[in-house]
Amino acid sequence: MEPFNPLDPTLATNPYPAYAKLRERDRVHLSAIGAHLLTHYEDVKRMLNDGTTFQHQYVAQQRQRGGEQVEDEPYFDFFRRMIFVSDGEHHRRLRKLVAKAFTPRQLTDLRHKAERIASELYAAGAKNGGMDFVSEFALPFPLRVIGSMLGIPDADHAEIGEHATALNPVLEFLPMSPDVLATANHAVEVLAEYFVKLAEERRRDPTDDLFSALVHATEDGDTLSNEELIANAILLYVAGHETTAGGTSLALHSLHNNPEQFTYLKRNPGSIPGAIDELLRYDTPGQGTARVIMQDTSFGDHRLEPGNVVLGYIGAANRDPSIFDAPDALNFQRDFTRTRPLTFGGGAHMCVGRNLARQEFEVAFTALFTEHPSVRVVEAGCVFRDTPLMRGLKELPIEW
Ligand code: HEM
Repeated sequence: MEPFNPLDPTLATNPYPAYAKLRERDRVHLSAIGAHLLTHYEDVKRMLNDGTTFQHQYVAQQRQRGGEQVEDEPYFDFFRRMIFVSDGEHHRRLRKLVAKAFTPRQLTDLRHKAERIASELYAAGAKNGGMDFVSEFALPFPLRVIGSMLGIPDADHAEIGEHATALNPVLEFLPMSPDVLATANHAVEVLAEYFVKLAEERRRDPTDDLFSALVHATEDGDTLSNEELIANAILLYVAGHETTAGGTSLALHSLHNNPEQFTYLKRNPGSIPGAIDELLRYDTPGQGTARVIMQDTSFGDHRLEPGNVVLGYIGAANRDPSIFDAPDALNFQRDFTRTRPLTFGGGAHMCVGRNLARQEFEVAFTALFTEHPSVRVVEAGCVFRDTPLMRGLKELPIEW
């Protein structure tokens, strides 16, 4: 049988039947791109939790992805300083500083602002009796929310927002085409220039936002270096909207395919908070993440050795039938108190933005279903993104 190819374009539309076959076929599968694939919940969870055996080792991972010359690419120098690809002590240090800037108070303060942004965006669409949910809501909404957290003036998103979106493929571990790579390299340079200027302003004149908090964050006398500051601000700007945009578009599409649940949430918007984790399990925006093996290890009788790259499919783990009953059904009655989906990762790298993301989902769908309860998806116009790991839709027309 042919090895599974994580770049197969059909995966971008619906990867779940392929994962189910893969899960039955091999505990660990050596794929067509050389990475070893994990699809079982317990195995992906172990990969995420054991930061000694499974590390990011950014240089090794990127060489596997793009060859030795990858280190000359402009994106490389920024991405290697980002919290989400750092390991061990270096990661602990960055995490303490970044987590300090994410306070529960900020989230509460942000709720009203998020509600206002959501209503404004839906009102703009209302004039036409509908909108493209992705370009007119799912992308601009979290971009403006994370932008406002970072203290980026609304007017600047038009200039830099599209560059943040162009970095989406870099967050994936999969190889990039020369065009995508060139666009990403340019985007990182534009964003770096923007944040360098903003950092100078915030140093001179501190404000009450996440970026100022990062500029001034200290832990035992330690601070972020200027390069780390810029790289991690770019990461927050990109990670803070791409996954949420992917997630809200997938959730709306899932509801469209499950009319009973759609009607239920439209009639009971108070149930939205309790439905979010199931919607994100059922169709997961961050489909997978990669690690490098640091010491001999095995999954069952499949042995892995130092230097091997593993790709843990979070999307497959979230549909593992040994963990979730009837995993291909969208079921808001599921109880996650004992076993939670791996949507936001696990272990030391667990998503710092997960509560912000959940709040954005709640605000986005509460506003949509209360302001436009007759909303429906126009299936014929739906198009999925080309990035199979950073999953989502790129077009999703809705009408009301
Ligand atoms: C539905 C939305 C989201 C999903 C599904 C998601 C998913 C994830 C996952 C799976 C990881 C761990 C990756 C790994 O271990 O390799 C992660 C880490 C991270 N996420 Fe999210 N995320 C979401 C929203 C956000 C938001 C809104 C922000 C920022 C405001 C954010 C910022 C981050 C950061 C900075 C990390 C790295 C943490 C670290 O390495 O210590 N994410 N996210």
